[in-house]
Amino acid sequence: MEKKVYRENIKKVLSALDRCTYEQNSYLIAKQLNHLQEFQVANTIAVTLSRFPEVDTWQIIRKGWDLGKRIVIPKCFPKTKTMIFKEITSFTQLESVYFGLFEPIEEQTVEVQKALLDLIIVPGLAFTEKGYRLGFGGGYYDRFLQDYTGCTISLAFTQQIQEQLPIEEHDIPVKMIITENGVINCEEQ
Ligand SMILES: Nc1ncnc2c1ncn2[C@@H]1O[C@H](COP(=O)(O)OP(=O)(O)OP(=O)(O)O)[C@@H](O)[C@H]1O
Ligand SMILES: [Mg+2]
Repeated sequence: MEKKVYRENIKKVLSALDRCTYEQNSYLIAKQLNHLQEFQVANTIAVTLSRFPEVDTWQIIRKGWDLGKRIVIPKCFPKTKTMIFKEITSFTQLESVYFGLFEPIEEQTVEVQKALLDLIIVPGLAFTEKGYRLGFGGGYYDRFLQDYTGCTISLAFTQQIQEQLPIEEHDIPVKMIITENGVINCEEQ
């Protein structure tokens, strides 16, 4: 219940972002990601397709393709609240499912196993500097990350960084957060 209130509040704050600030700060975040060693050495990168006002990830996918990286995106199974990742090599391999969310088209994409994911860009609404995350409420990432040992990075506008968040036992923190103002190494906080 407490998480629900936090989610509503942060959504309100974010939806007030004007388009130009949104574009510029998304660009600054993407640029910093490109400079990170964890990104540069990653061959396979898992990422979601952002919807405004989430930090734009479409430019990250384009950049990844240009650099020869394998880009994989989630296919969610609402009944079990689980997901798998499938490779996309073109935005035309996406289809719009619920609430304008894009997912890989079943017949046009192939699953990539968790052990092959070098970096996961983890989505979220709000974060603490320690890397704790308020997601969209499905628990998909908390479940998936339970036995994941690779690198995890979240992208966030400064307004999404909070002093405190409601945290539960199953919540798994990310290793790094990139905002328009810099990189936060969560393990050092
Ligand atoms: N590892 C897990 N095993 C079983 N249930 C879990 C696990 N992780 C989360 N859940 C359940 O999923 C629901 C949503 O969890 P939570 O509110 O933390 O989602 P979230 O972190 O916002 O979502 P996401 O992880 O998709 O970003 C909760 O009811 C929680 O108990
Ligand atoms: Mg959680």
